[in-house]
Amino acid sequence: MRGAVYVNGSITPADQAVVPVYDHGFVYGEGVYETLRTYNKVPFLYDRHVRRLRQSARHLDLAVPFDDRALLGWIHETMAAAGEMEDSYIRILLTRGVGELSYDVRATPTPSLVIIVKPHEEPPPRVASDGITICLVDILRNHPRSVNPLIKSNNLLNNALAMQAAYRRGGEEALMCNYRGELSECSQSNFFLVRGGAALTPKSSAGLLEGVTRAFLFEVGQEIGVEVRDETLYPNDLEGADEAFITSTTRELSPVTRIDDRAIGSGRPGPVTIRLLEGYRRRARELTRAAVPSA
Ligand SMILES: Cc1ncc(COP(=O)(O)O)c(C=O)c1O
Repeated sequence: MRGAVYVNGSITPADQAVVPVYDHGFVYGEGVYETLRTYNKVPFLYDRHVRRLRQSARHLDLAVPFDDRALLGWIHETMAAAGEMEDSYIRILLTRGVGELSYDVRATPTPSLVIIVKPHEEPPPRVASDGITICLVDILRNHPRSVNPLIKSNNLLNNALAMQAAYRRGGEEALMCNYRGELSECSQSNFFLVRGGAALTPKSSAGLLEGVTRAFLFEVGQEIGVEVRDETLYPNDLEGADEAFITSTTRELSPVTRIDDRAIGSGRPGPVTIRLLEGYRRRARELTRAAVPSA
């Protein structure tokens, strides 16, 4: 285990980091999180991630007792303690905090903050060159009136079960439908398919996490002249797709060349996916070169 972890004001090497067992993040999964990565050693799209962290916390009536600048300072301190690394993976977790075992929020007056920093692992080169296989699983994405998918929640059991179903079938990501039978998103990423030269992704109203990468890709598409839009999509739409890909902070754009035992398009990463991936990487490097890495 490499890296360093901040827990409520103390930073330790990763293998020594502990949280109290009475933390409601541990016993109830009550908390929210964000995953960031650095490019050029700068946390990428920091403002957007913190905005989403605050939105997630609001859904739980969970206080965020610090400002964006203080949080960035602690991230930099944890990065410094983690030591020299090419690019970093940063996970911020904010939980209900420590208290008696009760769902009453008065039991936990002080939220807990954890920041994990470890080396960012690039997807292996075969992902961009050959694409990945994903599986359309039976597990449904949460109903928005259950644990709303808009919340980037530490309560990840549904996602874990979906992903484990995909692993059992040899997939590297699990695609889920919503309760209406529309495509929604994957267990740890958003989903896109390419049809007629345009990249299409399910609408937010399908019940999904509004990925920072997904939103950024709309901007990249506009910049490089590739249409990116949201649309209601169904499993049947997979058959006519020319290309497909998933997006997330850590996986950027990963081409999808098979869904279960069916090849997508030519069975190779397609030209629209490749253009968007190149545009995305170029823009990420440009924006982080321009940013000043300070607290
Ligand atoms: C369920 C889900 N959807 C989408 C994403 C992609 O979000 P982002 O692009 O902000 O990393 C994630 C990332 O962890 C996720 O867990």
